[in-house]
Amino acid sequence: MSVTVRVPAKVNVQLAVGAARADGFHDLANVFLAVGLYDEVTVTPADELRVTCEGPDAAEVPLDRTNLAARAALALAERYGIDPAVHLHIAKDIPVAGGMAGGSADGAGALLACDALWGTRASRDELLGICAELGSDVPFSLVGGAALGTGRGERLTPLETGGTFHWVFAMAPRGLSTPAVFREFDRLGEGLDIPEPVASRELLDALAKGDPDALAAAVSNDLQPAALSLFPELADTLAAGRAAGALATLVSGSGPTTAHLARDADAATEIAEALAASGTCKHVRVAAGPAPGATVVAPQR
Ligand code: C5P
Repeated sequence: MSVTVRVPAKVNVQLAVGAARADGFHDLANVFLAVGLYDEVTVTPADELRVTCEGPDAAEVPLDRTNLAARAALALAERYGIDPAVHLHIAKDIPVAGGMAGGSADGAGALLACDALWGTRASRDELLGICAELGSDVPFSLVGGAALGTGRGERLTPLETGGTFHWVFAMAPRGLSTPAVFREFDRLGEGLDIPEPVASRELLDALAKGDPDALAAAVSNDLQPAALSLFPELADTLAAGRAAGALATLVSGSGPTTAHLARDADAATEIAEALAASGTCKHVRVAAGPAPGATVVAPQR
């Protein structure tokens, strides 16, 4: 018996960041959109807990107990008094350390897969609670679609979307560490008055209408200056996306993947070709959102 769960990547169409809190985290108004780039996590009974990974970036994925998939299995097993002896295999298509919640996807995927394999039948709220303990973006990976994340991003309100948005993602030749980008945000903001993060009404309306022009006018990412400060070459990728006709270009989450919004699927293909030819990124992917959250695709006997 094995269970496979498919989990989407995300782009943050708004990431408003407040001042650092006493616990070091930052309050956010984080508007997540799940997009159709997926990791698949397969769980199979084994002699002991182990993690393997395949995919172009597999060498960069830690296979020890720091891996969010392993941590998710351990958290559920501990709660239900189960021996966490499983093999977790990750088929990785989401960029590693890319700002697209690849690690979070594997955490949410492993949790749902283990719940199905072990028959624990944890409630949705319980699963979301475990996700929030694993990381700020993990609850959204479980839920998918579009949602506003508040607190450190883990408290979710689902959002309406009135259509499909077409994106081109440009992957960078190296990753960026999320804590390092938040530290740079703090350094750049030293001595400044940082306002409370609030979701943009225009942005939520644009999502609800499915209007790419209105969305393009409203997207924002407060972590972008920090990501550009640590990785200045990203400015060239953003400029190449704009020159190729993207309606909006921005760093995805803490980066370094850049997201380029297209008017439709054909425009996305054209922008992808131009970005690939620009020599400003490692590779390019086209994906549309909203995409469904973590989903069991193949329980097999
Ligand atoms: O929650 P998660 O483990 O994904 O967060 C990774 C790191 O990103 C945190 O340790 C913290 O440095 C930073 N972070 C933050 N504020 C948030 C979310 C993450 O400062 N709301």
